Amino acid sequence: MKTKARQRLIISSASGPDFSKRMGLEHLQDRLTIEERFSGRHPGFKRLLIRFFRKNFFRFSIHSFLALIGKRAQCRQEQSTPITRINAVEFPDRIKGTPESIRILHLSDLHIDASPALAFYAADRIRNLQPDFAVITGDYFNGYKVPDAKIHELLDPILECLSCPVFGILGNHDSLSCVPHLEKRGVRMLLNESAVFESFGIRVLITGIDDPHLFKTHDIPHALQSVQQDMERFHLKLLLSHAPSTFREAEKAGFDLMLSGHTHGGQFCLPSGRPLATNGKYPRFVVRGPWMYKSLYGYTSHGLGTGTPALRMNCPAEITLHEIRFS
Ligand SMILES: [Fe+2]
Repeated sequence: MKTKARQRLIISSASGPDFSKRMGLEHLQDRLTIEERFSGRHPGFKRLLIRFFRKNFFRFSIHSFLALIGKRAQCRQEQSTPITRINAVEFPDRIKGTPESIRILHLSDLHIDASPALAFYAADRIRNLQPDFAVITGDYFNGYKVPDAKIHELLDPILECLSCPVFGILGNHDSLSCVPHLEKRGVRMLLNESAVFESFGIRVLITGIDDPHLFKTHDIPHALQSVQQDMERFHLKLLLSHAPSTFREAEKAGFDLMLSGHTHGGQFCLPSGRPLATNGKYPRFVVRGPWMYKSLYGYTSHGLGTGTPALRMNCPAEITLHEIRFS
């Protein structure tokens, strides 16, 4: 069993509030403009009313349909009881003579204010997994609002049970204002940035980009600036991208593994596992679970939470443990 004392974490760029430097000035300006538009701070009474009816009509229709076909209880169960999925990926012969592996805990799409109880279920499962490090691929909260301190506290059951380094990126539901709160809780946020994790001689590059779905402020070249000279020295190059839409750019940039969420695995799937919707413009093969594109291994998590409706069909909420083997 690895001891924490033997693990070494090197952060290649300092965390802090200087967002323009961290994510790029243009991307910062674009993000803040879009956040203002989506935050609903000044929606007006008419727009609020339309939003309320649209949301509730949608929720009512789906619940009624599932009740009619006798599936509502099953869909609630899949949404409220996360499963632990193990995903094994092999990169043979990267480290000669040392049979070694690392374990990466992957959480995504927590939407925790929509279903706060999920934090306790998840914490229970995470406690026994003993990952080397954890990643959270965005959508910590629901809606497009600036969460207050109380909302942030909903994440505490999960973050308090993680004794390993935790790396996070922002999703399309997340405001930049979350970053200081998450970093105060020990999550190293990567805003078009890279960090290095080192353990037992294994060097892992962890690059995190901003949301490519709504904000489109992702920038792989900017994220790699600080490590460009060292690329050959990593045993694993990992990209965190909220939506899997960046898979072609990731492969071109030379990443080995890409972890994503955003799609909720389709959330509603046929019994065969085929998602009814993809929540974005990309091929179905990247929508859920493990996939491969040329030399790039990828995994798109079902996610832990959901937005509206809080239901899942043939697509249970998940916590993922990636076992990366190097020999
Ligand atoms: Fe999400």
